[in-house]
Amino acid sequence: MPLNRLQTLIKSGEKLAMLTCYDATYAKLMELAGTDILLVGDSLGMVLQGAENTLNVSMHHMTYHTKSVAAGAPNTLIVADMPLGSYEHDNEAAYKNAVWLIRSGAHMVKFEGGGAKVETARYLVERGIPVCAHLGFTPQSVNQLGGYKIQGKTPESAQQILADAKAMDDAGVSMIVLEMVPATLAKDITASINAATIGIGAGVHCSGQVLVLQDLIGIYTGPASKQPSDFKSPRFVRNFLKETNSIQEAISAYIKAVKDKSFPAKEHSY
Ligand code: KIV
Repeated sequence: MPLNRLQTLIKSGEKLAMLTCYDATYAKLMELAGTDILLVGDSLGMVLQGAENTLNVSMHHMTYHTKSVAAGAPNTLIVADMPLGSYEHDNEAAYKNAVWLIRSGAHMVKFEGGGAKVETARYLVERGIPVCAHLGFTPQSVNQLGGYKIQGKTPESAQQILADAKAMDDAGVSMIVLEMVPATLAKDITASINAATIGIGAGVHCSGQVLVLQDLIGIYTGPASKQPSDFKSPRFVRNFLKETNSIQEAISAYIKAVKDKSFPAKEHSY
């Protein structure tokens, strides 16, 4: 069972290699390469649909892509994102939407934010749905956060993220994605909770790392409406295809670099 394997890996201290995945062909490649966790991320709104953000991704999009990934990777842990509007309003609706994702092939659901979302996490976990939280930069709140900005830079905001992580851990989440936070904060959080931390722009001290597939192979050049020359990749991105000869090799190189802690390096961290 994929979730049992996750527990074994966490206990052994081995770093977890997670990748975003949206279809069966890549899912199969990633499973064959030994990727620990596949994330059907709502980043698909940007990298597949060409939008400027993730705000228009629906449950229908998420279940369609989750089914495709589950078909290609029957033996790998699959986490599916709950899109904007599918979990914030009431816990019962969150539960129904989480069940829809689980029935589509996900083993765990992920949603963004701390605070009031802690009770949503508890509600789902108590009803048997494994949950991954997502703290730090939360793309569904991009308008409220004023753009793609590193979070937890001031002592107050760092304390808030740490408190949210501890509360999510208490609520029983299995994993917490930490996006664009200082490496020192991610290190403190990882040492303070039982849940696994998965970093993206959060330094090397997390329990594991996640990268968007299109970033790993260096093909994402911004929203469909913008010129590639207007796009700058975030600091945490490394193009593994540049260093290898095929997509399969690039995926394997990413997994190896996560496991031997050579990725992320200082230049990929804040
Ligand atoms: O949607 C996504 O791909 C994500 C990752 C960036 C963590 O949430």
